[in-house]
Amino acid sequence: MKTFIAGNWKMNQTRTEIKNFFNILSSEKIATLPNAEAWIAPQFIHIDYVKSLITSNSSSGCCACSCSAKEETLSSSIKVGAQNCSSKEKGALTGDVSAKAIADSGCHFVIIGHSERRSIFKEDPILLKEKVQQALSNKLKVIFCIGETLAERERGDAFSVVAAQLRESLQGTESSYFGQEILLAYEPVWAIGTGKTATPAEAQEMHSFIRRNLAEELKISTAKETPILYGGSVTPQNIEELLRQPDINGALVGGASLKGVDFSKLYLAAKVKIG
Ligand code: PGA
Repeated sequence: MKTFIAGNWKMNQTRTEIKNFFNILSSEKIATLPNAEAWIAPQFIHIDYVKSLITSNSSSGCCACSCSAKEETLSSSIKVGAQNCSSKEKGALTGDVSAKAIADSGCHFVIIGHSERRSIFKEDPILLKEKVQQALSNKLKVIFCIGETLAERERGDAFSVVAAQLRESLQGTESSYFGQEILLAYEPVWAIGTGKTATPAEAQEMHSFIRRNLAEELKISTAKETPILYGGSVTPQNIEELLRQPDINGALVGGASLKGVDFSKLYLAAKVKIG
């Protein structure tokens, strides 16, 4: 299975900061790893700009010589996505962005069910299910986020909360989508933006539970092939240990994905999976 390093830029970055990010990435000339993909979700308004910088990097040739060979580098191979999409197909929904428009703008994926959407914007499991259906019917890949709060973990409810999140939004979705279109991200809410990461053992325990739950409760025949990313205060310092866990297939990274120098370190950490 591939390893996925996904940057969730949230409501951050200006065009100047994005330009700096790509300047750094392209100056590093990092060759893409055979089995790892880099994904970034900027704010909607920056999707085209990010795509244009990726395209310009991919057409800049391999090196200073005059040969025309193109080398696949990190800065030219990043896949762009959105942080959210509408639950409806189209219509009078001021401010919403349809999955169709996201796909039409060349996006590869959309993040659905992030805990900030669940808690701040009160998105419930049924709405999230509709968003997943919209994304899938527009051929977008989905990073579907799940995770418990600190209070839920302390009450001993972490596993049942995560199982309910999976059941309420994904039950009934065909197995063939899992591993191809649907990726999961386990993001314990208490670890997001707090500097407090789940230990690799805690994360592995939950990831293996999620995989088992997909197979046994949701009857997903492709549970073994479904990438499960970990998210929550992932940094260049702690990512390798997390990726060494057998059921962690990548990372969804917020704060530490904003700087080019850190993003390239996060990406290169995927070597522990393939090396
Ligand atoms: P963080 O955010 O890496 O800043 O903790 C992760 C996320 O919310 O996806």
